[in-house]
Amino acid sequence: MVLVNNFGVNKNNNNKNNQSHEGMRLGKYELGRTLGEGNFGKVKFAKNIDSDQPFAIKIIDKNKIIDLNITNQIKREIAALKLLRHPNVVKLYEVLASKTKIYMVLEYVTGEELFDKIVSKGKLNEDKGRKLFQQLIDGVSYCHSKGVFHRDLKLENVLVDTKGNVEITDFGLSAMQQQFRADGLLHTTCGSPNYVAPEIIANRGYDGATSDVWSCGVILYVILTGYLPFDDRNLAVLYQKIFKGDVQIPKWLSAGAQNIIKRILDPNPETRITMAGIKEDPWFKQDYTPADPDDEEDDVYIDDDAFSIHELQHEEEHRSPGSPTQINAFQLIGMSSFLDLSGFFEQEHVSERKIRFTSNLSAKDLIERIEDTVTEMGFRVQKKNGKLKVIQENKVQKSLGCLSVIVEVFEISPSLFVVELRKSCGDASVYRQLCKKLLNDLSVPPRQALVSSEVN
Ligand code: ADE
Repeated sequence: MVLVNNFGVNKNNNNKNNQSHEGMRLGKYELGRTLGEGNFGKVKFAKNIDSDQPFAIKIIDKNKIIDLNITNQIKREIAALKLLRHPNVVKLYEVLASKTKIYMVLEYVTGEELFDKIVSKGKLNEDKGRKLFQQLIDGVSYCHSKGVFHRDLKLENVLVDTKGNVEITDFGLSAMQQQFRADGLLHTTCGSPNYVAPEIIANRGYDGATSDVWSCGVILYVILTGYLPFDDRNLAVLYQKIFKGDVQIPKWLSAGAQNIIKRILDPNPETRITMAGIKEDPWFKQDYTPADPDDEEDDVYIDDDAFSIHELQHEEEHRSPGSPTQINAFQLIGMSSFLDLSGFFEQEHVSERKIRFTSNLSAKDLIERIEDTVTEMGFRVQKKNGKLKVIQENKVQKSLGCLSVIVEVFEISPSLFVVELRKSCGDASVYRQLCKKLLNDLSVPPRQALVSSEVN
């Protein structure tokens, strides 16, 4: 089995759309190489030009924060992140903003992603694996105690420094993990949902803490075995496996390790072990010294005002040093530029070609209702191999071509189905209209369905 990076990323920085920021000045920081790339933008190496101290700067494209509904949440999340101080959690020092971007100035971790470590060196023995897992649990449970949940824990978000200590990155900002876009659909921009808890797939409403526990279990499994507990090229089959908790736990693991994995990867969130339970587990407790958050020394300048965001006066593209003026987050977010969505619809994002949502309607009902809805909207439907092909010919101007969408329904469980819409060609706005209508009509409960748009 193979571990595949979940970023949908390009770490080599050779993407033709890549906008190089190398050498660029950002207030008191100079940007360097790309360290990683996630759902919402790149993470770049940066140096404070006064102190020479290294940082990692996460660059978020404001255009990707596109719905007014999440601005308050983002504000709160950034404020909460700034208050986190734990040796196993990457610190957020300050937040800068320009007209088009938000820059999160983070602690720089010298080391590697746990993902790369496992890929290059393979699984870890139980003693080494337990130490990393203990630190992971320490960091995650500390954040939970502060009311912050990760919601996207995966190997790529666990950094291991040169001393072998865990630093969790990308905490919070869950509003950006799951957001209503201007098209009205709830999107989760995850590359692969191998780490997602069953209750999230089932869309039953979920608790951030219990689903983070699940993801920690997936991470522990990979650390100790070198492969993912739930994996399949076919997303519907993968969802089914997660949903049923269909996991093979190798017999060559110690009884203690098998037991804790089983307790964590319990598909029922009600009976799943809690953070407190994990800390009481005999396998977990071996050689366990909990980290003391108060030990965390601050050897760099910390911006004490949780709500402050420094507005850069010069747009970064000018490459001129900007002396930041301090405004508060509420002012910044109130500024129209923060939510200027004009650019969003101008170009079609590759990631919008494929949309999925869940429904509790039966497969038969779904197919019938999809046919009715799209016919009502003036589309033609062809049925082939259990799939529906939805076609709209452009009668007015042949050169504009046509819209062609494949609709497929997958059964996850007898009461849960995933509808997948794949656009093979055609106009993005018509496609979005179609998706919006189907989601409104078919997702149960309405509009709360899980929709994932994938980077292909
Ligand atoms: N990659 C992503 N975040 C990072 C960080 N804070 N330090 C080093 N590398 C990173």
